[in-house]
Amino acid sequence: MRQKLLLFFTTLVLFATACSTTTDDEISDESGREQLLQEILADPELGVSRGLAECFIDYVVDNSPLDFEQWNTLGEGYPVSAEALDGLSEEEMEDLISVVAIGVEDCGLFDEEYEDADGGDYSPPVVSGEFNFELLTEHPFDCLNQELDVFVNVFGIYVISHSSVPTEYVEHSANVLAEFMDNDADGVMDDPEVHRFLVENNFVVPVWTEALREEVFPSLRGTFCEDNLGWAASMYYGHDDWAFGGIKQAGTWDTNLEEIWHVISVGWYNTYPEYFGDRTGSRLADAMDAARGGRFQTVPNSYPEGAWYSYDDYTCDYSCQIHEYFYWILMANIDALDPAYTSKCADSKDEWYVCTKDELQQIDPLAYDLLNNQGFKLPTRIPSGSYRGPSGRETSPTVEEPAEEVAEQKCDASSDSDETGTEFQKGSKGVGDPYFPGLGNGGYDVDRYLIDVTWQPGDGYLDGWTTIEAKTTENLSSFNVDLNANMAVSEVIVNGEEACFIREGTEVTVVPATNLPVGSEFEARFAYAGFPGLVPAEYAPIAGGWYHEPFITEDNMVQRNNIMYVVGEPSSSMAWHPVNDHPRDRAQFRIEMTVDNGPNYVYFPDWEVVTNGYLISKEETTNTQNLPVTTWIYETRYPQAPYLTVLAYGPFTESDEEDLGDVTLRHWAQNADTLPGGSFAYAKETLGIDYGPMFEVFTDLFGPYLYDTYGYLALSDSLGFALETQTLSIFGYGTWTQPFIHVHELAHQWFGNYITVDNWSEIWLNEGFATYSEYLFEEAVAPDYDIFLEMRSLVTTGEAYGWFAILPGDPGPENLFAPAVYFRGALTLHALRMTIGDDAFFASVRKYVDDFGGKSVTTADFVQVVESVSGADLEDFFDSWLFGTPMPDLPCEGYSPCVQ
Ligand code: TRP
Ligand code: ZN
Repeated sequence: MRQKLLLFFTTLVLFATACSTTTDDEISDESGREQLLQEILADPELGVSRGLAECFIDYVVDNSPLDFEQWNTLGEGYPVSAEALDGLSEEEMEDLISVVAIGVEDCGLFDEEYEDADGGDYSPPVVSGEFNFELLTEHPFDCLNQELDVFVNVFGIYVISHSSVPTEYVEHSANVLAEFMDNDADGVMDDPEVHRFLVENNFVVPVWTEALREEVFPSLRGTFCEDNLGWAASMYYGHDDWAFGGIKQAGTWDTNLEEIWHVISVGWYNTYPEYFGDRTGSRLADAMDAARGGRFQTVPNSYPEGAWYSYDDYTCDYSCQIHEYFYWILMANIDALDPAYTSKCADSKDEWYVCTKDELQQIDPLAYDLLNNQGFKLPTRIPSGSYRGPSGRETSPTVEEPAEEVAEQKCDASSDSDETGTEFQKGSKGVGDPYFPGLGNGGYDVDRYLIDVTWQPGDGYLDGWTTIEAKTTENLSSFNVDLNANMAVSEVIVNGEEACFIREGTEVTVVPATNLPVGSEFEARFAYAGFPGLVPAEYAPIAGGWYHEPFITEDNMVQRNNIMYVVGEPSSSMAWHPVNDHPRDRAQFRIEMTVDNGPNYVYFPDWEVVTNGYLISKEETTNTQNLPVTTWIYETRYPQAPYLTVLAYGPFTESDEEDLGDVTLRHWAQNADTLPGGSFAYAKETLGIDYGPMFEVFTDLFGPYLYDTYGYLALSDSLGFALETQTLSIFGYGTWTQPFIHVHELAHQWFGNYITVDNWSEIWLNEGFATYSEYLFEEAVAPDYDIFLEMRSLVTTGEAYGWFAILPGDPGPENLFAPAVYFRGALTLHALRMTIGDDAFFASVRKYVDDFGGKSVTTADFVQVVESVSGADLEDFFDSWLFGTPMPDLPCEGYSPCVQ
C-alpha cells in the first residue's frame, strides 16, 4: 500500500518534470486534466484504470493546498513543475501528500474487491484439451450484473452482453478476442504481459446496442465498476459489420477486427511504451508521423501529398490517431484488407490505402519493421470468429457455416487476348448507373434466371443454386454479378467448367476457364448459401431486401407471425440470388423454392410461397429426417426487371379468379384474421377497389395491358408502402386499404415495368406517370372532377411543404422517392398537356408506350416522342419543369377558373 502511494506521487512529480519542458502555455484545464490522466494510465506499474485515475485527479484537484488554477500556472509546467514542488513549504508538501493518500483511498484503490480484481494473483490461463467458451449469466463484479446478463470469460477478459443480443454475435466476438490473444492457437497467450495488463485492469469487450449502453453506464455510476473496469471500444449489434465465418468466407468486413483490436491495443501501449506507446516518441508514433507526412499534434487542414495515413477526424487527437493507425497497420500486416476478401481497403482509401502485407513492407517500412522484426508476437492470422483451442477443435458459433467448402482462389481477372489476337476484357462492375454505380454489370444480357433454393424458416438459412442464362455483349475475360456480401458463394461453373471468382462487397467477379466471345450464349451456375437479409443501404433509399425474422427465437419459442417477403426498389434481388441487378436488363425467372423446416421443425401446412408468374407445381415431399417439405415452382412469362420480383412466404389466401376479358385477376392476402372480414370482397365492395374500371381507363389511355394476369399481395404488416412488383403488386396493410394506391401500382405496370428506366436518375418517368395516372383515373370516372383545380391545389400543398425544391429530373439517389419526384413529376405531365393540348398529349403517351414498351427509356426519348407528335419545341419546357428552380407556374389558358 505504501508502495502504491509512493508510486502515485512519484508519477505526479515525474509528470510535472516532463511537462516543465512543454512550451504550450495555453493548455486548458480540461486538456491538462486529460494529460495528467493519460500519464497516470500510461504507467504500467500503477496499473490504474481510467475510472480510478479520474476519481483520483478530481479529488486531488478539489482538495489540494494548491488549487487547480495554480497548478496550471505555477512555473512553466503543468500541472505542477518540479520547481513548484520545490517551492512548496514542508507543510504544503505534507498536505499534498496526505491529499494524494486520501484520494487514493477514497477512490477505491485499497478496496478488497479491487485488490482481488487487481490480480496480485495473476496467473496465465491454462488452455488445454477441449476448449470451449461458456455463456455465463454473471460477471464476478456484481455491479455489471445489474443491466447485463450474458458474459464470456475469454482468458480472463470478459465479453459483456445482454440476452437481447443473439448469442452468435456474442460468441463471434468472444472467438475473435481469443484469436487475437492466442493467434497461433497453441493455448498460450501470444504476449503474456499484454494479457496480464488487460486482465489486471479488468478490460471488457461490450457487445451491445446504443440503447443498452445508455442503460448500463448510468447503472455503474457510484459503484465499484465505475472505477475498476477497462473500456476501450465496443461492438454494436445491428449496426456494426459482422462477418460470420470470417471475412474471407463472408466476403464482407468484420468490425470486430477493429474494435476488439482497439481494446487489446491498450495492453500494447502500456506494456511496451517505447515501442507501442500512444504518445510522441514511441516507435509506433514515429511510424505514424512518417505515414502522415509529418508530426501533427492536431489534424492538419490537409495532409502532405504522399501521406498514406490521413485520418481527418478533427476530434481525434494524437493518441487517438495512433490508435487508428495501429489498427490499420496490423490489418494490412495480416492481409485482412486484401481486396480479394473485402472492399474495406477501397472503401477506406481517404484514410488509409495500404491493403496487403507486401504493400505495407513497400510503403510503410517503419510499421512493417515494428510489427515483424522487433521480436514481438503480434497476430499474423485474420481472426474469423472460430478460435481453435490447442486441441484444434472449433469453439465457434452455433451458426451453421454458410457453405461447406468455400473457394478461396484468388484469380486473375485481367484483360487478355487469344491466338487470333482478339481482345477480351473484364466486364464492368456496374451498368454505369449514375446514382448506383454498383448496380447491374456490364458486358452481358441475361435471358433467364433459374433459381433453385431451399430455405429453412426456423433459422432463416437459405442454400442452393442460381443459374444465369445470358448472352455476351462484349468479348469477356471476366464478368460480374451482384450478390449481398453475406451470401457465401462456394462454386461457380461457367458453361460446364469450374470458374474462379472474387468477392468484393456485393460484387462477385467470375473468371471463366475459357474467354467468352461477344454475342455468345453462356450459362453460369452459382452455388451459394447464407442468411439472406437487406441489401446495403447505399442501394436502398427505402430499405429493401429479404425481410424475415427466424421462426425460432432464442428461447425456442415459435413465432407464428414471422412471414417472409422480398421487396425493394431500386434493389432487392441481390439479397437472395446472384443477379444483374438493374432495370436495363430484364429477364425471365424460374423460381423453385423448397421450404424445409430442417432441424428446427415447425411446419405450417397452410402457408404459401407466392411470387410473380405462374405456379407450375407445388409438391410435398420429405427431407432427410423424413419430415415434410414443400417445393413450389413458379415461372414468369414476361421479362421482368429484377427489382420487380416479389417473393413471400406466409399464411396467404388466394382469391377467386376474376375474368376481365384479356386479363385474369387473382389476389393474395395474409390471413383474413388481420384484414377485415372476407378481405377480397371487402376491398372491392366496401373500399371500392375495383379493377374493372381501372383496366378500362388505362387500356383506353395507354394501350393494351401487356401481361395476362394481375393481382395484389396484401400483407397484414403495415409496410408503409406498396410496390408495383410485376403482375402482382405488393401492399402493406396501410396502403392496401387506399384505392388510389391500387390505381398507382397498376399504372406502373405500363410506366416502370413495361417501359423501364434506363437508369435511376430517370425515376420521374416511373413515379411522375404513375402519380399523374391517379388523377387521370379520377378524371375519367368521376363526373364532376376538375383535374385543373386538383393540380392547382397540389401546387399549393407542395409549396407549403417545400417539396418542389428537389428537381424531379435529377433528384439524386437519396431523394429518389422524394415527393417532388411524384408530384412535380405529375405536374410536369399536366403542364405538358396544357401546353400542347389534350390530343397531342394523349397521342404522345400512346406512342411513347408503343415505341418504348419492352425497352428502357430516358427523358430524352420521351421528349423526342412528344416533339414528334406535337411538332412543338419543348426543350425549354422540360428543362424548366424537370430541372429548373423555382418550379414554373402551371399554364392556365383555356381552363377555368384559372386562379393565378
Ligand atoms: N415505387 C413505389 C411506388 O411508388 C414506392 C417505392 C419506392 C418502394 N421504393 C420502394 C416500395 C422500396 C417498396 C420498397 O409505388
Ligand atoms: Zn410509384
